[in-house]
Amino acid sequence: CTEIDLSKTLLDWYDRHAREMPWRIGPVDRAAGVMPDPYRVWLSEVMLQQTTVAAVRDYFIRFTTRWPTVKALAQAQDDQVMGEWAGLGYYARARNLLKCARVVAAEYDGQFPERYDELLTLPGVGPYTAAAIAAIAFDQSETVLDGNVERVMARLYDIHDPLPGSKPLLKEKAASLTPPLRPGDHAQAVMDLGATICTPKSPACGICPLYAPCLARAAGTQTELPQKTPK
Ligand code: ADE
Repeated sequence: CTEIDLSKTLLDWYDRHAREMPWRIGPVDRAAGVMPDPYRVWLSEVMLQQTTVAAVRDYFIRFTTRWPTVKALAQAQDDQVMGEWAGLGYYARARNLLKCARVVAAEYDGQFPERYDELLTLPGVGPYTAAAIAAIAFDQSETVLDGNVERVMARLYDIHDPLPGSKPLLKEKAASLTPPLRPGDHAQAVMDLGATICTPKSPACGICPLYAPCLARAAGTQTELPQKTPK
């Protein structure tokens, strides 16, 4: 089974099972090639950094209703933004959010830069978020690695080296799966698979689209992976 087959299988699964989220494009528009708004992708990815999809949803809707564009957000008062953020935690994220909005409004005329290395220069945008925005909003073949992706890769390739030391290897595996077409949908497919099927404690291997090629499932080691170096 080649990497191309695997990523095709994942995209087919995503087309049928993608979770609906307010920052995503629905299946009909997606099939028509409509791309998501980079502002909404950036905002959702910053909110999702240490917070679950379920907790982020309502905050995202309130933010985008009140500030529909990055230029609108850039003009908000600091205390208005901190007030809307209240309850999401990790308040440095909200301060960086506003800083970033002001940089994009002032220096980029409200248009997010498209390249990974340029995104990385923005306040609060680290390697994960830069890759996610480049792939999801701008269709660039960047590899997105978060905890869900790490778990899926460790299991698919039955990798027993412990985290965090195994990160470069897991990233290499994730990169080898990333397709040139629809890299953003691919990234979100792996994240959705990790969140809904390839879960940490009791993965639903019986309904997994990667059941056949999964090496950990074949070896029976899936619930032991990924290994972690004890702190
Ligand atoms: N976690 C972080 N970003 C995500 C996304 N775009 N889709 C699903 N889960 C995510």
